[in-house]
Amino acid sequence: MLTKTKAPHFLNGPSIDNDTWRALVESAVAHRYGTASAGQPGAGRSIALMFFNPSLRTRTSMEQAAAQLGADATTLVAGQGTWNFAWGDEVVMDGEEAEHIHEAIGVLARYYDALGVRVFASGTDYELDRTDARMQQIAGSATVPVVNLESAFYHPCQALADAATLTDHFDGAVEDKKFVLTWTYHPKALPMAVPNSALLMASRLGMDVTVARPPSHALDASLMNQAEQAARAQDGTVTTTEDIDAAVDDADVVYAKSWGGPLVYTDPDREAAEREAHRHWRVTADRMATTNDGIFMHCLPARRNVVVDDAVLDSPAAQHLLQAEYRLHAQKAILARLWQ
Ligand code: CP
Repeated sequence: MLTKTKAPHFLNGPSIDNDTWRALVESAVAHRYGTASAGQPGAGRSIALMFFNPSLRTRTSMEQAAAQLGADATTLVAGQGTWNFAWGDEVVMDGEEAEHIHEAIGVLARYYDALGVRVFASGTDYELDRTDARMQQIAGSATVPVVNLESAFYHPCQALADAATLTDHFDGAVEDKKFVLTWTYHPKALPMAVPNSALLMASRLGMDVTVARPPSHALDASLMNQAEQAARAQDGTVTTTEDIDAAVDDADVVYAKSWGGPLVYTDPDREAAEREAHRHWRVTADRMATTNDGIFMHCLPARRNVVVDDAVLDSPAAQHLLQAEYRLHAQKAILARLWQ
């Protein structure tokens, strides 16, 4: 239903057709306003949520989404009460890892009706990460639907929640809006899953998308191409600038996110030096004042007065809590569709 694999996985935006994506956005908004189909599509169903990385929003919103649909959820934190897992083919498991992920997922698929998995980027092997190899391995081992709760390259639940937030805020009229995805300074080199998914999401909505980032912090070239194609198909545009001030000028949406980018893999010392040299890439009240009465978005967690100033995050322009709320509604939409 969501993809053409043996189970209807929800793995990333590009694998979900436009009609399904639009239906999910509408369903998420309907869940917020209490107008979604009545009933308990999760009654008698169960989902296991496996986290290889920390989470506040994703974990709790998935647990609540399952509960509100009448389903049972079990959360597992890999390596904390489970065995440590080995990955990959032909691995000789004579180290610390007692169980291969293939068996772990195969077992869980016999107990549960769906699986949710968070597994971040390795940060060391670009090919492994840009192909989402670990999430793909899990999907390949699972005989029940897998929901991507953030992988190396994609965070589709966040993207769906963001699309619903924009649709709700602009009352559906998003196409001609200027959406700025701006890189911001962060003391750590962060993964690309959120900026990738935010870029593809806004492009698919037909917005006029600007990606603002230092020259050193380009996103993946093929993903940029994908976004340009998706935008063109909806009469939108994707442009890139190395000037944050020019980018936010007249913006309707300022979506802040930091990322390390491909340079992390090829020259991590230079990436760190370039990141430090761009500490001034922060969303300030002065910058927001140049927007078209624009809104501020962030997936959270956000570092106050590093990524975004208090004056922005505590202003009416900030929509970060609505985005977080939409995680619940969006994931109810996903689970309800899987279990319809
Ligand atoms: N935005 C998001 O995915 O938050 P968590 O990392 O807390 O789940």
